[in-house]
Amino acid sequence: MKVVEAKNISYKYPDGTVALDNINFSVSKGDIVSLLGPNGAGKSTLFLHFNGIFTPSEGEIFIDGKRLDYDKKSLVDARGKVGIVFQNPDDQLFAPTVEEDVAFGPLNLGKPIDETKDIVESSLKKVGMEGFEKRPPHHLSGGQKKRIAIAGIVAMNPKIMILDEPTSGLDPKGVSQILQLLYDLNKEGITIIISTHDVDLVPLYSKRINVIKKGVIVKEGTPQDVFRDIDIIRSSNLRLPRIAHLAEILDKEDNVNLGEDGYPLTISQSRRDILKLL
Ligand SMILES: Nc1ncnc2c1ncn2[C@@H]1O[C@H](COP(=O)(O)OP(=O)(O)O)[C@@H](O)[C@H]1O
Ligand SMILES: [Mg+2]
Repeated sequence: MKVVEAKNISYKYPDGTVALDNINFSVSKGDIVSLLGPNGAGKSTLFLHFNGIFTPSEGEIFIDGKRLDYDKKSLVDARGKVGIVFQNPDDQLFAPTVEEDVAFGPLNLGKPIDETKDIVESSLKKVGMEGFEKRPPHHLSGGQKKRIAIAGIVAMNPKIMILDEPTSGLDPKGVSQILQLLYDLNKEGITIIISTHDVDLVPLYSKRINVIKKGVIVKEGTPQDVFRDIDIIRSSNLRLPRIAHLAEILDKEDNVNLGEDGYPLTISQSRRDILKLL
């Protein structure tokens, strides 16, 4: 079942910039899907359509099978189902303390104070930020701010979480912590949509990938499908994952062919392919 769907979406900013051009994009329940594209491709613009912050110039958005109609009821319904973690946590975090920030969503949804306290506690625990309740969010590191922003969305118990470049600017440990957290949330049944331009990370978690270039989805499929289309990847200002690039060089220059199903995209796939050759 499709839980998020964009049908023929176009979007023009008031200054005339066409940021999205006839986008079709859909995500099935329980999947982790990536929107992969370089800077300026339209990732953030598309995401802001999924809870009705932006109204498309043309086309329709469906959330959980229901068309978004932009009246109050339809927007409240969509925002109860879809939580968006913005690219920049400073756009999201605003309260003087971490606990007030995370409490804002549940209180706004009408949860009583006692229940909200429990929700704040469990959400901070989930993102590994217990103990930070009284801290001002603007004094935290980039990775910590991202985890608090995620906790604020987790606290609203969305069915679908959309994360705009959740790993950008983080150190390697910060990246693994965020990925582990996203796996865990997905295991609990939350559908996850991630935007990124990180081609090395994307095969590690994506069930499906949509490649976006200049407001157009130019390719959709499994990681193997997408990275087999090397021309599309390179002409979209992206590149192969490093491990696939190494396999390409071994193939072309040394006649060592790894992988029957396209070049390996992750270290564990390349290990499997190398062991087969030995
Ligand atoms: N407020 C705005 N006004 C005009 N153009 C914008 C605005 N925000 C983004 N754009 C343009 O829309 C396109 C898509 O931007 P964006 O969705 O932010 O891309 P991404 O998130 O993939 O980096 C870019 O060409 C960008 O310059
Ligand atoms: Mg963006």
